[in-house]
Amino acid sequence: MERELALEIVRVTELAALASAPWMGRGEKIGADEAATNAMRSMLDSVSIRGTVVIGEGEMDEAPMLYIGEQLGSGNGPEVDVAVDPLEGTNIVAKGLNNAMSVIAVASKGQLLHAPDMYMEKLAVGPLLAGKVKLTDSLETTLKTAANVLGKSVADLTVMVLDRPRHETIVKTLRKVGVRIKFLSDGDVAGAMAPAFPETGIDLYVGSGGAPEGVLAAAALQCLGGELQGRLMPADGTEYQRCVQMGLSDPYKLLSMSDMVGTGDVIFAATGVTPGEFLGGVRYLPDQRAETHSIVMRAKTRTIRYIRAQHYLPSKPFLNQPERNVAVSINQA
Ligand code: FBP
Repeated sequence: MERELALEIVRVTELAALASAPWMGRGEKIGADEAATNAMRSMLDSVSIRGTVVIGEGEMDEAPMLYIGEQLGSGNGPEVDVAVDPLEGTNIVAKGLNNAMSVIAVASKGQLLHAPDMYMEKLAVGPLLAGKVKLTDSLETTLKTAANVLGKSVADLTVMVLDRPRHETIVKTLRKVGVRIKFLSDGDVAGAMAPAFPETGIDLYVGSGGAPEGVLAAAALQCLGGELQGRLMPADGTEYQRCVQMGLSDPYKLLSMSDMVGTGDVIFAATGVTPGEFLGGVRYLPDQRAETHSIVMRAKTRTIRYIRAQHYLPSKPFLNQPERNVAVSINQA
């Protein structure tokens, strides 16, 4: 993959973030997601790839666009796998909370795991703990190991976890051991990436979230030098069979980084929709401008670029919902 691709794909997440940001706090998660999906899909046609969606908005019969197997791109350029989440954190935007992002990962063809839409157990860490902790260890052991490696006491560790009833046992253990906990309302791509950014103060991410989000986070961590270990959690026989149909002969296998994102090059981009741990959200400025804050990274070089961009938006596009997508796409064309 050419390095210029990184700058092309960040325009895709910028546009999706700009399209969904006006929906903040309106209580309409589907509208916010559709706006992001339409914008992302429209921009992807101009990107110099011959892409196939491996993680997207659903199966062909359930998603009108960005469905699994959809062919994308200008038709020139490398053959690649594309994983997208046009709006990661639909509820976050609907409720006006933190950590919503638009996300994309592109990897050489055949590299990204076709993760079925079910939960995945996850353990994610930054570069200092990569290769040092194991999902198969007890949480207590993992925390002790992490504290040793990081040279701090267990009480000084900060662990991030999605705030869900299913995490009751994990939270009990975290409290028994005595670590600090940072709860996340939604958006576990950002959550799993957070330990790779020292400024977040988060040492580990634990718990279960969407499997597709796990692969996206693994792609990001591949660029950041961190690590995500995962294990699918088929809820019943149907989900188990689905894993098998998707080529995962042992659905309970411990998934390593190479199982999820391969060993070749990966490019990852995300743009904040609402403010998060390491990205700012879309901000509206005077003179019909909006500012976006993005990160774009490449595994091969481990370059991490933050892009703060100002976009000129035509007449009052964000005041009236139906006009918004049109206005954004015209301006970005
Ligand atoms: P959506 O953007 O699809 O709403 O996903 C948000 C999210 O929080 C993901 O980040 C996470 O992986 C998943 O939902 C967790 O699922 P659940 O809300 O069922 O716990």
